[in-house]
Amino acid sequence: MVEFEAFSPGVVKLFGEHAVVYGHPAVAVAIDRGVRVVCREGSGLRVRTVSTISGSVEWIGDKAVVESQFFAYIEAAYRLARERWGVSGINAEVVSELPPSIGAATSAATVGAFLKCAAGLAGAELSAEELAEMIYSVEKLVQGAASRMDGSVTAMGGVLLVRGSERVRLNVEIPELLVVLTPRRGTTRSLVAMVRELRERMPEVVDSVFATISSIVNRGVRCLESGDYRCVGELMTMNHWLLASLGLSNAQVDSLVRALSGAVYGAKMSGAGGGGVVVALPYTDSARAIAEGFGYEAVRARVWNGTRRGD
Ligand code: MEV
Repeated sequence: MVEFEAFSPGVVKLFGEHAVVYGHPAVAVAIDRGVRVVCREGSGLRVRTVSTISGSVEWIGDKAVVESQFFAYIEAAYRLARERWGVSGINAEVVSELPPSIGAATSAATVGAFLKCAAGLAGAELSAEELAEMIYSVEKLVQGAASRMDGSVTAMGGVLLVRGSERVRLNVEIPELLVVLTPRRGTTRSLVAMVRELRERMPEVVDSVFATISSIVNRGVRCLESGDYRCVGELMTMNHWLLASLGLSNAQVDSLVRALSGAVYGAKMSGAGGGGVVVALPYTDSARAIAEGFGYEAVRARVWNGTRRGD
């Protein structure tokens, strides 16, 4: 029986989340931790998920769709694959190396890996641009609204400068990152709405925070290009406190960012906030021990640029 395997990376942001919603630039990184799907032809949809963090669940057919948004993503991706490539049935094993709903783009990565796997089974060509568009349409269907940033970064890989619909690949080397997984409260949607409401009440204040974040991104790109990681780290930490000033962080994440300051060049919340991923540059064993001392799982991550068979 033909079997296919595909991987789609998780995403962290070095700079610029939230400001990017208002047309400012951001720098996002595809990491080598993400979602892997192994798929075979089957009848209907059958999915087994294995989370390296939370264990394994088995699910067959349609029954869990309403109960779990995770399966809703897969179901919607499956419908799209059927429409697009005439796939008639898929047995898939979905292995997630990151927990869901922590701001690491795992839903985009799940949809991305599933669609790449389905395209592989169907023998269909799938460009990164098409994949990004398909991930966006699935996320929009399931969530009601979606970010194009995560879908395009998981589809394209690498380190990307994102501004509006523009995606510029930065040919830069980045040392290994420390990715800390802290508990998260709030959804991307509610946090983006909170910033919108704050901006409506005090536009000049919020816009000046975004303008500073924009300067951080521009300077950050220059520091990345010259390999000045100390500067990159300093700017990440500044970006963290600007996001915190908008109410996007929490006390635990702030304490962690402070505690990490002696062990890394810089650290920040990554993504929509309310807890979730904290990214630090560079990875060090002592930084990892600090994060674990707080009781958080922490992983080492590299930039994912590559392709494996079926990717
Ligand atoms: C979410 O990972 C990043 C945000 O900037 C939303 C977006 O860009 O779509 C908060």
